[in-house]
Amino acid sequence: APSDPDLVERARAAKAKLGDKVFVLGHHYQRDEVIEFADVTGDSFKLARDAAARPDAEYIVFCGVHFMAESADILTGDDQQVVLPDLAAGCSMADMATAEQVAECWDVLTEAGIAEQVVPVSYMNSSADIKAFTGEHGGTICTSSNAERALDWAFAQGDPATSKVLFLPDQHLGRNTAVRDMGMSLEDCVVYNPHKPNGGLTAEQLQNARMILWRGHCSVHGRFSLESVEDVRARIPGVNVLVHPECKHEVVEAADYVGSTEYIIKALEAAPAGSKWAIGTELNLVRRLANRFADQDKEIVFLDKTVCFCSTMNRIDLPHLVWTLESLAAGKTVNRIEVDPGTAAFAKLALERMLALP
Ligand code: 13P
Ligand code: SF4
Repeated sequence: APSDPDLVERARAAKAKLGDKVFVLGHHYQRDEVIEFADVTGDSFKLARDAAARPDAEYIVFCGVHFMAESADILTGDDQQVVLPDLAAGCSMADMATAEQVAECWDVLTEAGIAEQVVPVSYMNSSADIKAFTGEHGGTICTSSNAERALDWAFAQGDPATSKVLFLPDQHLGRNTAVRDMGMSLEDCVVYNPHKPNGGLTAEQLQNARMILWRGHCSVHGRFSLESVEDVRARIPGVNVLVHPECKHEVVEAADYVGSTEYIIKALEAAPAGSKWAIGTELNLVRRLANRFADQDKEIVFLDKTVCFCSTMNRIDLPHLVWTLESLAAGKTVNRIEVDPGTAAFAKLALERMLALP
């Protein structure tokens, strides 16, 4: 449905009043009505880099989810205020790894005698606590657009013959990168289940593994199945299947192309007229791309038959954005995301290792 014209006008007026004082970032999964007011859009990696691009801006309004706003707070100046328009915009995947669980996991690795060989690599989709754990234990953050480079870096930190990675919290991104991009086997990967004693693993399994994958996943991307790929291929002959690496391994194996949201956009920009695409990622982005390329004769469909928004990304809507901008324009900071300095220092170390990857 088209946006309420009154709200659009209010957002415009508040943003104009704030001028250079505000910098609005929008993740690709945000609603159209929000993206319209973003100064920059991007995937998680691009937004982490762009957050620091306007050191003069007093307010960074992050239209995305909580872990992204935390990362922006860590990477921006102390005098800059990062604001998340709805505090309930979390990420169920990030919530699957808590600081206590990860500390317990490290004890398990220590008891198995392998902690010294292990370098943690944490997906951007994790809390600041997990990023701090990662930085403190010599590891790096990665996103879906640099996971392979991050893993290469991590394995090179120790003896390449014996080094191991603890990958948090998305088992699928970890497995897909190791097996599809780096030529490891499925047997090189074990899954650590934080709800079982010792992660559900024996010391021998831990000693033999190269990748210790945390048992986390994205519920949005988890809905795509091998059947959805087979269905769309039967329905649309010649279709190119392009999916996000948060999808299950069997889906990624059956797809033609795999990449981050930014990769997906670039692939469709470069696609020839007349080509057909089925996209396995969040629906706001797929719909926006289908509309954008409709007049260029590129057929773009959603990979699954059922609707698949990220409900927490969708919490940021025009009414929340208007309330945020109007509050800031009136001199009142709302929904500030502030990571405590102790956590931020180690988390920043891990984020900076990612930003320095070749
Ligand atoms: P990217 O934007 O890095 O591809 O990540 C997708 C995602 O799930 C963010 O939550
Ligand atoms: Fe988290 Fe998945 Fe939503 Fe991304 S799409 S924010 S990983 S729940």
